[in-house]
Amino acid sequence: MRIGILTAGGDCPGINAAIRGVGKTAILEYGMEVIGISSGFLGLINEEYVQLDESILSGILTLGGTILGTSRENPFKKSSTFNAIDKPKLIKKHYHELGLDALVCIGGNGTQRTAAQLSEVGLNIIGIPKTIDNDVYGTDVTFGFDSALWIATEAIDRLHTTANSHKRIMVIEVMGHHAGWLALYSGMASGGDVILLPEINFDINMVAKCLKKRAITKKPYSIVVVAEGIPTPKGESAARYVASNISELTGLETRETILGYIQRGGSPSPMDRVLATRYGAFAVELIAQKKFGEMVALKGNNVTSVPLAEVGGKLRLVPEDHPLIEKARRMGVCFGKDHS
Ligand code: F6P
Repeated sequence: MRIGILTAGGDCPGINAAIRGVGKTAILEYGMEVIGISSGFLGLINEEYVQLDESILSGILTLGGTILGTSRENPFKKSSTFNAIDKPKLIKKHYHELGLDALVCIGGNGTQRTAAQLSEVGLNIIGIPKTIDNDVYGTDVTFGFDSALWIATEAIDRLHTTANSHKRIMVIEVMGHHAGWLALYSGMASGGDVILLPEINFDINMVAKCLKKRAITKKPYSIVVVAEGIPTPKGESAARYVASNISELTGLETRETILGYIQRGGSPSPMDRVLATRYGAFAVELIAQKKFGEMVALKGNNVTSVPLAEVGGKLRLVPEDHPLIEKARRMGVCFGKDHS
């Protein structure tokens, strides 16, 4: 068999580990040929490919980013670059000209939706979920999340010293797109006092009340972890919006930090290396069994798969009654909403 592999959407730690998992299993276990496609779906439109062999797959396990390059190109969306070109038709043509028996698409929500659409038009597709946001529907975990969690947690740990020494409110904004997984987990891992998530409709006055109460009870500094996806006035960052309101409503000295792309960079955590490798290896098993139109997924501790048709276009958000939120509330963490 001859299989293609591409990486699309935002990069994250662990992608190369997944490419290696796919490539080594395909070549060594099944004797397949593996074609790397450059820059996501763009590579299939522009015919930019490279044959992956054992030497290319060597030494990439610990590397961040993606050796194949990535893009946010969505072939099912019209774009001025490609004007009147029928991109899905072109992709189908190039897929067949390349002689592919299957295509592995490593990516987040947008990629899995495109993967589902390509599967619908008759290509043999397997999806592998990745993103630091952990918001891909149909899997318990995406790789990339654990690495980003380490980075965000370490950053928040470091803010504690300035918060404490200067008796300040430190507001830190973490990524996550529309989901609050990274804010919730990094906030809990680093002892955040206030955690604001897009999924919980918070009241900024209640946040101010929590912080004033802490200040009165001799806790004159606080850590406020904010997800980038919370609603704010147009053009204002989550951190700016929250910090300026806190400062105004409490009179307490407040500073903001936006962690940004540092969260997506660098070497994957050991957990992400292992998860990405398991996902990659399982994707090839699905191909060998000719079980196409599936996304590899983690359910509990088992790697399994779910139909792409059930995944495409959906988001996995933090449920408001998530056990970690309940536990946090009982320990005095403020989510900016009355839950009584
Ligand atoms: O999906 C990963 C992510 O890093 C989100 O957390 C963030 O909102 C987005 O990508 C940023 O996208 P871009 O790389 O296009 O700026």
